[in-house]
Amino acid sequence: MTANKFKNLATSTLLSYRRYIQAGLTLCAGLGLSAIACSVAYNWEYKFMQAELQDRLDKIATDIQREVSGNLEIIRAAGAFYSVFDGVKKPEMKTFVGSALYRHPSLKAIAWLPRVSDSPQSLTKEIDLDVDLTANRLALEKATKRQEIIATDRQKMPSQNQPSVFVFLPIFSQTPPGDTAAGQPDLPAREPESLKGFTLGVLLVDALVKSALQETKLNFINVYLQDAMAPESEKFLAFYEAKTNRIITDENIINQLQIGQRAYCPDGSSCTRILNIENRRWLLQLRLTPEYINPLRFWRSLTVLIFGSILSFAATLYIMKLWNYTDRIEKVAAERTTKSRQLEQTLQELQQTQTQLIQQEKMSSLGLLVAGVAHEVNNPINFIYGNLHHAREYTRDLLDLVELYQKHYLSPPSEISQHLENIDFDFLSEDLPQLLSSMKIGADRIVQIVQSLRNFSRLDESEMKPVNIHEGIDSTLLILQSRLKATADRPAIEIVKNYSHLPLVECYAGQLNQVFMNILANAIDALESYSLDRGPKAAIDPMAIAITTEYSTPDKIMVRISDNGPGMPENVKKLLFDPFFTTKPAGKGTGLGLSISYKIVVEKHKGALRCDSTPGLGTEFSIEIPLRQEVRQPVPFVSRKISEAA
Ligand SMILES: Nc1ncnc2c1ncn2[C@@H]1O[C@H](COP(=O)(O)OP(=O)(O)OP(=O)(O)O)[C@@H](O)[C@H]1O
Ligand SMILES: [Mg+2]
Repeated sequence: MTANKFKNLATSTLLSYRRYIQAGLTLCAGLGLSAIACSVAYNWEYKFMQAELQDRLDKIATDIQREVSGNLEIIRAAGAFYSVFDGVKKPEMKTFVGSALYRHPSLKAIAWLPRVSDSPQSLTKEIDLDVDLTANRLALEKATKRQEIIATDRQKMPSQNQPSVFVFLPIFSQTPPGDTAAGQPDLPAREPESLKGFTLGVLLVDALVKSALQETKLNFINVYLQDAMAPESEKFLAFYEAKTNRIITDENIINQLQIGQRAYCPDGSSCTRILNIENRRWLLQLRLTPEYINPLRFWRSLTVLIFGSILSFAATLYIMKLWNYTDRIEKVAAERTTKSRQLEQTLQELQQTQTQLIQQEKMSSLGLLVAGVAHEVNNPINFIYGNLHHAREYTRDLLDLVELYQKHYLSPPSEISQHLENIDFDFLSEDLPQLLSSMKIGADRIVQIVQSLRNFSRLDESEMKPVNIHEGIDSTLLILQSRLKATADRPAIEIVKNYSHLPLVECYAGQLNQVFMNILANAIDALESYSLDRGPKAAIDPMAIAITTEYSTPDKIMVRISDNGPGMPENVKKLLFDPFFTTKPAGKGTGLGLSISYKIVVEKHKGALRCDSTPGLGTEFSIEIPLRQEVRQPVPFVSRKISEAA
């Protein structure tokens, strides 16, 4: 029960809020889809950005690597010169490397450092190479040991304030051609004793970075270069600040700057490239400035989100508008439905009124006829009935007088004797009182009939009154008397009365008589139509209508009128009390009798009218009426005019 209530409540709540639910769902779905589309677009943009960053990083790394490699090639070439030409002079060397230094600004200087601890022979006039070799002794030893080029960590030449990286190429003295291994080209000797000196190259870090960046656009992207193999405090090499478009090599300045966030590659790792500078590893990183990470950079995804949201709101508004429109239509439809219902009701009422009018007309003409006949017969019969008594007395007096004459005139004249004989006076004097008595009986009967007719029409009684139900039934039977008699086609219809002792019943007598009339007339109709089909049954079970009256409850009486007619099939029983339902041929029945009777019994008298019928056995109608009616109201069924006319 509670579950049902809850279900009903939930259903009605859902129905009343269905417009908001639908609009809400649309909005959520729209916003959800916009968010998904936005995230797809953002993903795409983010990947695109990462790929772009990677490309730039690759390019910068390649350019630095290429620049360094070019510089090393020049250093190697200079080294080859030293190893071949021992007596090479400074001006000659200057001519040899001068143009190379000019084309490679990141190669600041190339110097020859002989093995002897003399001061190095400068090959350039621009700088005074006062290199502190003791600080780089380890690097020199390493180069000698490896017999390969060695790069140092970040250096600063006292005379130059530019950070740079030294590159030492060990130069060994050439072995005579005969000493070389068969088939081997001339290679430098590998014994440390044959070390002639070192070729020193000075690489300018900022120039290296500058040359690599000159062809790459770096809006809002900083570049950070570190020496991965140097101790922590020495790691910093160079920093390109996009905002000021300058390359910073001073580590004191770098500490005061915002170097930006690391860029991330598509695989999620921070975008870093390792540069191989001979024995050293440099780390190159892109650092993104806050301007670069600005959300507006993802304007495509933002546009998708904004457009999606606008569309969602528009769709929601449209749905709400549609609901309003539907509401208006529903209202109009409801109004029209109400109006059409009212029309239907009016039509039904009209039909009922028509039914009543027809029946009233029928009953009023019957009542009028009956009342008229009763009235017309009443006057002459009153003359007869009123004078009969005197006629009897006068007759007796006259007969007494004749008897006195006979007593005192024993021999009357022959003419009188002859007349007495002719009229058979003895028989006449005996028969005349009897004749008058029978005339009295006949007149009594006529008076009774007139009374019954008046009783049936009840034209003078439009109010509810206590009446004798049996009188009503009897007067109705009297009206129908002629129909009960035998005809050429059928035998008489027997009436079996089982009247109980009943008190007066409060009712509209005229209307109730109408009910008896309708039911009895239907029973007679049914028996008449059935008489031919009855066959041998007719002999053992003659046509009869039984009328039983009894108490149904202490405060209700019941009148049962049954016939042994054809009965009714189920489909007729279902429609029995519907107005205009009839199975009789056109012109014989209107189909109003029972519907009017139902109204009179159920609506006017708060009683019950039931039908029990079995095809082939017969039909029984039971009319149940309360002894007392609670509401008394005058219901004129026959107009006052008719009443007055009667
Ligand atoms: N006693 C009965 N036996 C068999 N059928 C009956 C009986 N009483 C009524 N009917 C059926 O019920 C139908 C409806 O009866 P109702 O009195 O309402 O109309 P009607 O007799 O056909 O016409 P009206 O009474 O208006 O002249 C009848 O046509 C008849 O078929
Ligand atoms: Mg009828």
